[in-house]
Amino acid sequence: MMQTLTTKKANNSNKILDIDKSFHSWYRFVLSFPPHLVREYINRFKLDNSNIVLDPFCGTGTTLVECKKMGIPSIGIEAHPMAHFAASVKINWEIDPINLINSSEIIAEKVIEELRCQGIEDEPFFHINVINNQNLISLPSEQFRLLIKDSISPIPLHKTLTLLQHLKNQDNTKIYNYQLLALAKALVSNIGNVRFGPEVGIGKIKEDTPVVLYWLSEIKKIARDIQNNDIHLSGKSQVILSDARNLNNQIEEESISAVITSPPYPNEKDYTRTTRLESVILGFVRSKNDLRNLKKNLVRSNTRGIYSSDDDDKWISDNITVQGIAREIEKRRIKLGKTSGFEKNYHRVAKLYFGGMFRHLSVLRNFLKRGAKLAYVVGDQESYLRVNIPTGHILADMSQSLGYEVLGLDVFRKRFSTSSKKWLNEEVLLLEWNH
Ligand SMILES: C[S@@+](CC[C@H](N)C(=O)[O-])C[C@H]1O[C@@H](n2cnc3c(N)ncnc32)[C@H](O)[C@@H]1O
Repeated sequence: MMQTLTTKKANNSNKILDIDKSFHSWYRFVLSFPPHLVREYINRFKLDNSNIVLDPFCGTGTTLVECKKMGIPSIGIEAHPMAHFAASVKINWEIDPINLINSSEIIAEKVIEELRCQGIEDEPFFHINVINNQNLISLPSEQFRLLIKDSISPIPLHKTLTLLQHLKNQDNTKIYNYQLLALAKALVSNIGNVRFGPEVGIGKIKEDTPVVLYWLSEIKKIARDIQNNDIHLSGKSQVILSDARNLNNQIEEESISAVITSPPYPNEKDYTRTTRLESVILGFVRSKNDLRNLKKNLVRSNTRGIYSSDDDDKWISDNITVQGIAREIEKRRIKLGKTSGFEKNYHRVAKLYFGGMFRHLSVLRNFLKRGAKLAYVVGDQESYLRVNIPTGHILADMSQSLGYEVLGLDVFRKRFSTSSKKWLNEEVLLLEWNH
């Protein structure tokens, strides 16, 4: 294992600062890395508008938005269509905020009126909507079955689909994507029954709740950010729907000066589940087939997303550390008598994860400029029968074997594992490409 590591004082704050909320908060993953962390590495790498920053696992676009705010060009890669959509809307500030508000208010009035004709109030505060479920619209059955059970109640779903229909029918295509993103945000924060902790679960079931009201409130936040924006030299940015293990010719060779990213960790987190409600309702995932295809484009990091044909593990067959961890997981499983299909796959996830990251780090080399600096935010894990997976150290060794220089591992924060009663590091792996 690599020995020469630098460490930094742990910073426990993973929270987005109030001053950073504009644009970032249009829609974010719970526990996305915070904008101030991205800013710290932009400053440490001394990046300016002559550089291009890449985030190959850009999620909802924290790196891209922060680069844009600082006038630095950036490119994002994201394989999940909902996250890709969110990031692409968040980096496009070319709309008229007044038009967004006015047009949305007109739609809101029409939806409220249509619901009222059906005997349904959008704001059920002084009126209880008593309605026969058979009169409510719902999703096609295959789509509905993809939702996590009880993640949205029938009346809020009816209101949401009514609103969505009005959004689709309007002529004003320029503002449509902002309206959709506002609906995605309202769905997860107010309309649905989901809660995050950090995994997605079902919280208090709301039989009824306003939909148009919460949606309009998100629209107003977007419009306010655009209106208050005083950044005149924002960085050019783009986001590409693609698999970071297979970049081919989507980016210009030797064009990237820095990478700032947070890839998945091997920790059972399923990005297709945390985003299921909005992905299904907005139509990014319509069938089991869509879901399978989406999962196949992701680095394997959980047992819900691996397939018998997966073979990323072949890339790390000679990695002694990863093979040892996989063996230890399997040994412990057998000792503990754990026999479910998921448990039997724990050791495979560990191998497939590091194999996928190996592929990514390998293909990335073509696109890096000489002297490029890279920051990978990753966490140590013990999700698989408490076997310790030192993700940062393993990726550091792997990167070294691929010709990267390892500059160090900064401890970004520590998380307390309630199962093992140990502190686990979340670290920033710092690399340099000098070829
Ligand atoms: C930790 S999240 C990144 C969050 C991000 N920093 C943000 O601001 O939202 C990891 C992301 O990697 C994406 N991802 C996983 N495998 C991928 C792959 N092979 N190619 C591209 N993106 C992938 C996931 O969909 C998820 O959005």
